[in-house]
Amino acid sequence: MCGIVAAAARREVSEILLEGLRRLEYRGYDSAGLALLDNERNLLLHKQLGKVAELERAQQLEPYYGCTGIAHTRWATHGEPSAVNAHPHTSGARVALVHNGIIENHQQLRARLQEQGYQFVSATDTEVIVHLLHSHLIQGLGLVDAMRETVSLLEGAYALAVIDVEHPDEVVGARQGSPLVIGVGIGENFLASDPMALRQVTDRFIYLEEGDLALVTPADISIWNEAGERVRREKIRIDEAVESADKGAFDHYMLKEIYEQPRALAATLALDARHRVADELFGEGAAAVFDKVQAVQIVACGTSFHAGMVARYWLEELAGLPCQVEVASEFRYRKRVQHDNTLLVTISQSGETADTLAALRDAAPGDFLASLVIANVDNSSLVRESDLVFLTRAGVEIGVASTKAFTTQLVALLMLTIALGRRRGLSEDRATDLVNALQRLPEYVQETLELDRDIEDLSEAFIAKHHALFLGRGIQYPIAMEGALKLKEISYIHAEAYPAGELKHGPLALVDNNMPVVAVAPGDDLLEKLKSNLEEVRSRGGELFVFADRQAGFASEPRVRVLNMPHCPEVVKPIVYTVALQLLSYHVAVQKGTDVDKPRNLAKSVTVE
Ligand code: AGP
Repeated sequence: MCGIVAAAARREVSEILLEGLRRLEYRGYDSAGLALLDNERNLLLHKQLGKVAELERAQQLEPYYGCTGIAHTRWATHGEPSAVNAHPHTSGARVALVHNGIIENHQQLRARLQEQGYQFVSATDTEVIVHLLHSHLIQGLGLVDAMRETVSLLEGAYALAVIDVEHPDEVVGARQGSPLVIGVGIGENFLASDPMALRQVTDRFIYLEEGDLALVTPADISIWNEAGERVRREKIRIDEAVESADKGAFDHYMLKEIYEQPRALAATLALDARHRVADELFGEGAAAVFDKVQAVQIVACGTSFHAGMVARYWLEELAGLPCQVEVASEFRYRKRVQHDNTLLVTISQSGETADTLAALRDAAPGDFLASLVIANVDNSSLVRESDLVFLTRAGVEIGVASTKAFTTQLVALLMLTIALGRRRGLSEDRATDLVNALQRLPEYVQETLELDRDIEDLSEAFIAKHHALFLGRGIQYPIAMEGALKLKEISYIHAEAYPAGELKHGPLALVDNNMPVVAVAPGDDLLEKLKSNLEEVRSRGGELFVFADRQAGFASEPRVRVLNMPHCPEVVKPIVYTVALQLLSYHVAVQKGTDVDKPRNLAKSVTVE
């Protein structure tokens, strides 16, 4: 988490830095700061608690100008959100530094620096880095050498950018475990956590690799690898038009992104001329890998983990493949027993999630047949480090709550199931049925969006509640989990999901008239069992909200409110029902007045462990 942007230019850069921060706010938004070097080599600093808008206000009230600068938007790890803990951190009124990541040995380093007389003003792990850097600079080292000495002492993850009044044209960056990219301009160069931060000034980028250190001046870019050797890194052009970062007619990005789903799903479903799922969609060499797959291990976090849980039902039922799904932060630290020829599948909207990336990196060579990532961001770390890649076509997702990224991941996973299933007895007819269902999916989702007003009506019943239960059976259980995650994430209502059959084994004790119970009840072969579970709730005074196929035989009655969902093929129901639950959470959150797109304590891209 945390977003970094930096510039070395011949023109004034404060507005470029602020625009970069606005675009990086998805990475954290509890405080923000900016440091500039002016023409007289003064180090000018604004730091504010709150969103980037607060920093903009500070800059309007007291404008600072300079051609060299660094800026940061923070998601607190060490030290509460406050102006003092906000970055940039400074040392000796000379050097300023921004950091994304966590320094694990900060306590030892802090003690050492305090012995040398350095005084700490913040509670962050970052402040040790800037004092260390200062301690090397005052020994007479240049900025690059001082930075090299500094990072050699750090344990943990970092992307860094620094400026120094004694080197007014230079910005030095370094990365280990957190992303950092160089934006290549004409007579100006930049650093950022994500190319998106710099799309207003360039379309040419150089991705730094692990252990790289870079010196960026208006005229030059120099890069050294971990061994200190000068290296050249590939420059790539990102041609896509910058996606509109405005909300258009929508009140929130989340709502815009929910409504974009028919288009995003259609774009993700890329078929060949014969309307089949081509192996090549998963990258060069996919066919040879798929021929050998005997098991699948899925690893992801949060919403992407829920996508993996849905896929397990598809892979086992349709492709006959044993499939395990695990959250990345657990997978990493567990001694595992792997089937032979297991395909490791990671799922990530951002492609930068630290736990998922670490799980991929920790997977011992030989443990897995190959790695495949399903990601939404091209050139992200997971994309660059996986053997095979499927890019979802959700488009930029700005709302912290994942919506179109999730449903497009599900499309990708069903396509993967078809590609693998064809080799394991999935008939051509069945594969064609599945593809047909996917092709009609945008239509079913559109019909669900048309229920928006009805869902908004239902949402009123949740506003005064503190808890909610979500129930599903079979493949709808992970959809209930996703519905609960959405509700807690943006409305701050405590929500839990259970497989409906588990209710009587404990959670039923919670059910009373203060506990709304949402049931995802599409009307599959588990319907009769689900109906009895729902009766258990109703007879305890619970209020039920049933999302059911309009042909499933549910009718509204006292304490049971039914939302009639479009009738659609079983296989796409998890995707279609998700959309209704997204709208439910959205409307609850709006009525509660929370910050829907930037819920408290969260960030869009979780780049720390
Ligand atoms: C979901 O709404 C969240 N924003 C979160 O759970 C997210 O899915 C998780 O952090 C994983 O992110 P990724 O898909 O970018 O890896």
